[in-house]
Amino acid sequence: MPSVSELLTHGSIPRHIAVIMDGNGRWAKQRGWMRPRGHRAGADAVVNCVEACQSIGVEFLTLYAFSTENWKRPAMEIEALMKLLNQFLVEKTATLMEKNVRLQTIGRLCQLPEASRRQLDETIATTRQNTGLTMILALSYGSREEILDAVQTLCQEAKAGTLDPTTLDAALFSRHLYTKDYPDPELLIRTSGEMRLSNFLLWQISYAELVVLPKLWPDFLHADLFEAVGQFQQRQRRFGGI
Ligand code: IPE
Ligand code: IPE
Ligand code: MG
Repeated sequence: MPSVSELLTHGSIPRHIAVIMDGNGRWAKQRGWMRPRGHRAGADAVVNCVEACQSIGVEFLTLYAFSTENWKRPAMEIEALMKLLNQFLVEKTATLMEKNVRLQTIGRLCQLPEASRRQLDETIATTRQNTGLTMILALSYGSREEILDAVQTLCQEAKAGTLDPTTLDAALFSRHLYTKDYPDPELLIRTSGEMRLSNFLLWQISYAELVVLPKLWPDFLHADLFEAVGQFQQRQRRFGGI
């Protein structure tokens, strides 16, 4: 596992890292516990990940916390997850302030319970002026839905005559995504060994390097982030060139 100084000496630190935080349920099950206990442990792993990113100068960290497909889960688990989100925000706002972290969100937030939206608005407002890491929580997020929302807006603009469809290019399209204010992630990490994208940032990770770690998310330590960035630094990024 590379140290912070080795990573910094190498020089190429991703500006934006995206993480599919997977394996909370299995982590709890391995211990004979209910799944929500795994989600609770996962909240502490978020802090490890944020700290590790900050120590090497990552600017943006997008965390997949709840997908559009996760609404299919039993009501009890969804309720527990939403409660945990609120608890995380209430408990960790002071930590975010202390660490100069700015909170942002992507996803169809209107689908979240009123209490979650209120707490999110509050934490986003409190941390708005922070200039350190930007932590972007993907909540009720689905990449296909994001792309469809962009297409809908673009169609409406074309219909209203404010957009000439022949001028539509990748840059303009990107400016209609939830992620318009952030650069594309250069590195995508998924924990728990699953080799799939599960509807996460499909447009934005076109050229991201993918690192799948076998560890379950609640076990994620600073060292795991450094390991993933170390792997990223070993990659030859060609972008279709030679
Ligand atoms: C990831 O862990 C957290 C969410 C999807 C909210 P899981 O809950 O998917 O855990 P596993 O994959 O079932 O172990
Ligand atoms: C992806 O994990 C979503 C989040 C981590 C929030 P899932 O556990 O929902 O994905 P699948 O079902 O294994 O594809
Ligand atoms: Mg999972």
